[in-house]
Amino acid sequence: DWTSDTFIDSTVAELKKKIGSDKVVMGLSGGVDSSVAATLIHKAIGDQLTCVFVDNGLLRKNEFEEVLDSYKHMGLNVIGVDAKQRFYDALAGLTDPEAKRKAIGRVFIEVFDDEAHKIEGVKWLGQGTIYPDVIESVSVKGPSATIKSHHNVGGLPDFMKLSVVEPLNTLFKDEVREVGRALEIVETIIGRHPFPGPGLAIRILGDITEEKVKTLQEVDHIFIQGLKNHGLYDKVWQAGAILLPIQSVGVMGDERTYERVVALRAVGSVDGMTADWIHLPYEFLGKMSNEIINRVKGVNRVVYDISSKPPATIEWE
Ligand code: XMP
Repeated sequence: DWTSDTFIDSTVAELKKKIGSDKVVMGLSGGVDSSVAATLIHKAIGDQLTCVFVDNGLLRKNEFEEVLDSYKHMGLNVIGVDAKQRFYDALAGLTDPEAKRKAIGRVFIEVFDDEAHKIEGVKWLGQGTIYPDVIESVSVKGPSATIKSHHNVGGLPDFMKLSVVEPLNTLFKDEVREVGRALEIVETIIGRHPFPGPGLAIRILGDITEEKVKTLQEVDHIFIQGLKNHGLYDKVWQAGAILLPIQSVGVMGDERTYERVVALRAVGSVDGMTADWIHLPYEFLGKMSNEIINRVKGVNRVVYDISSKPPATIEWE
């Protein structure tokens, strides 16, 4: 029978044999899969593994710094790359969701490739692919910003002539989490909600600006922190906020306002293929609405998404 300890022992032994004294490069996302995969590879070959964590400017508030810090504590040899401006430049003026995804995917490959080229003699590309990725191979909405899905949809770009090593490609998500806990990876990474590769870019409907990203980061932060503080975070499969491309009339003091609307979304799911909206307590939603409107400049209205998948999707784009 399967146990995380026997899986870890046999996988580390296999990785040692397969990789030998070669070098491996791997992109980390802050998510469970890439973090567990990297930890296993690191256990097998130590500092022959170099990890790359890219700040695409579309992460959650403080996420880049916090996750980078966790990785360093885990002993991973990780290069943090601030590529925010490259992503914002590539996204400027784009409004179509697929065009945004493509731009993000392209810039990610460019940034990652720049870093990979700096590592002399690298032979392998580590990936956090899990079993459901292997069988589904592509999300209904097309390629994401990760190397993983580019690999999934049509092979690696030619300029990255690396062999792929995917230690988790026989595991389901719950098994990955179990392995992660056995490897003593911090709960803030293991229990993390799934987050799409294109990040906040597909939660800002319409074109992306740095200012909109900042606004959404504040809203999202209040909501996610609120879920954690009220013991709701672990009851939700995925949650986030969406910045809508409309303004609505409000009133503050005796002034009329005309400001942005944000939607909150929280769903329960097993694999993301189907999902139900979560019946968050009204008191909690009320509290979130007040906090967001009081604290985030430029937002005067909060709505809650009560759509399930299908026929809606989890993300709005
Ligand atoms: P949807 O919106 O299709 O989302 O119901 C299902 C799950 O997939 C995530 N998602 C993505 N992940 N790149 C990703 O890496 C993408 O382009 C992408 N689009 C959606 C979404 O967050 C949810 O977990």
